[in-house]
Amino acid sequence: MINSPQVTITGHTQISNGLNVDAGTSSDCATFTGTIKTTVDVIADGKSLVHHVHGNVTTGASQTGQPV
Ligand SMILES: [Fe+2]
Repeated sequence: MINSPQVTITGHTQISNGLNVDAGTSSDCATFTGTIKTTVDVIADGKSLVHHVHGNVTTGASQTGQPV
């Protein structure tokens, strides 16, 4: 356990067996300045990035536009 108000790690960091982040009193929980990659999925407020669906569209060869 590290109990410190701030920790800076300057090298590549590998974390095994999970990571939980509690925002505490901050409105920003985590900020990344680079691309975030996962081999599985990202779930935001219960919505899967990989498996979510869009309403009011018809299945076909066309693609939807970018999110607005
Ligand atoms: Fe989408």
